Amino acid sequence: MSGAGKKVLVKTFGCQMNVYDSERMAEALSAEGYAETEVVEDADLVILNTCHIREKAAEKVYSELGRLRQLKSERLKQGRETMIAVAGCVAQAEGAEIIARAPAVDLVVGPQSYHRLPELVSRASRERTSLIETNFPEEDKFSHLPRRAPRHAASAFLTVQEGCDKFCTFCVVPYTRGMEYSRPVSAILAEAEALVAGGVAEITLLGQNVNGYHGEDETGAATSLAGLLTRLASIEGLQRLRYTTSHPRDMSDDLIDAHARLQKLMPYLHLPIQSGSDRILAAMNRKHTAAEYRALVARIRKARPDIALSTDIIVGFPGETDADFAATLALVEEVGFAQAYSFKYSPRPGTPAAKIDAQVPEAVKIDRLHRLQHMLDGQQILFNTACVGRTFPVLFERSGRRQGQLIGRSPYLQPVHAFAEPDLLGRIVTVEILGAGPNSLSGVIQAA
Ligand code: SAH
Ligand code: SF4
Ligand code: F3S
Repeated sequence: MSGAGKKVLVKTFGCQMNVYDSERMAEALSAEGYAETEVVEDADLVILNTCHIREKAAEKVYSELGRLRQLKSERLKQGRETMIAVAGCVAQAEGAEIIARAPAVDLVVGPQSYHRLPELVSRASRERTSLIETNFPEEDKFSHLPRRAPRHAASAFLTVQEGCDKFCTFCVVPYTRGMEYSRPVSAILAEAEALVAGGVAEITLLGQNVNGYHGEDETGAATSLAGLLTRLASIEGLQRLRYTTSHPRDMSDDLIDAHARLQKLMPYLHLPIQSGSDRILAAMNRKHTAAEYRALVARIRKARPDIALSTDIIVGFPGETDADFAATLALVEEVGFAQAYSFKYSPRPGTPAAKIDAQVPEAVKIDRLHRLQHMLDGQQILFNTACVGRTFPVLFERSGRRQGQLIGRSPYLQPVHAFAEPDLLGRIVTVEILGAGPNSLSGVIQAA
């Protein structure tokens, strides 16, 4: 065991898929004897699991690497070696550039090679050289990673699909994560069963395009996400299912129907729209119109009237005019989101939109983002306030900051605070909602 007596710290940036990958990397290293730590000064190996989606996210990595370089030389004075690895989407996108900019880095490893992490770390240490592994290997990393370890958590992520072939013109994901790949049904079922046996009550299926899932079942036939959810819903002890992120174009009828049919499937859907202007949607290569999105929302709400919708929106995409932005506001106003993420467009190297001449001035982007967020914040507060006086089944996930307080999630994914005995962690409890804030609810336990 190359890691016996050693400690690893994995720091995660970016999306939930990185959170999942970080867990799997830590597990792969733990099989080699590494113990996890959260104290960077104690770590013999530090892995930054990075995100390349916007410039700010990518730049964070380099400021972090600056601090780590200092730490590495201080530990060296005490005779201790510190290995620094960069994983995730910046690793995939920048490869050797990372070592050129930050020579203290020992290993750059792309998201498709995590099963090789232990071997790569010991090679880099032995050969005292920086290694770069950013190929898209033939073998599937999931079948080479060690079996999933118990999570000891109420809720867990499970990646079922990776990569993206949609090539939205603003987005780096097709370049950093590669082509769409769906894991086989049997592997997902086995992983879910192991998680549930370890006490997990809720599983969120992950994929960059999760509703495009088309993994093979035991007979070799392609299974849709609805089919997969149906199989998972029959696991005894698994109480809640969620999935993210979905593309509007892949929101099939059987998946919409699953929201009406499957009790365990929570009434919450993250459905990025990006823009309300058809001209901009076309320039983004989203391949749907605002009217199609509206019609889709209507169909989803017909199947599951109480569903809470969430979205992603970009302001200041190249060429976006005041009229385009007004169309985005109009769409948001009309749909009404329970929750949303909104971003200023960030030109990304190698993407088609970065090469468009008509970039929107920063001041205009800032102004549009403020106006949009004002509207979205208002909708979120409205949604949360409307929950006061209702009772929700809440899955308690962790302790709150205050003594005796637990934090759980409502079916609509809102954090819910309540005073409760710690033995309710991991359980679904009926809570009467008494208060609503911009980002969370509070209530009292009714019955366990
Ligand atoms: N697969 C998901 C998106 C993953 S990226 C989907 O198709 O919806 C998460 C979000 O980041 C995107 O929905 C988009 O709103 C935002 N984003 C991606 N690239 C961006 C860029 N270059 N600038 C600003 N925001 C971006
Ligand atoms: Fe990026 Fe578009 Fe793929 Fe989402 S669908 S990951 S935004 S290219
Ligand atoms: Fe970021 Fe990669 Fe996720 S770019 S958002 S970590 S897929």
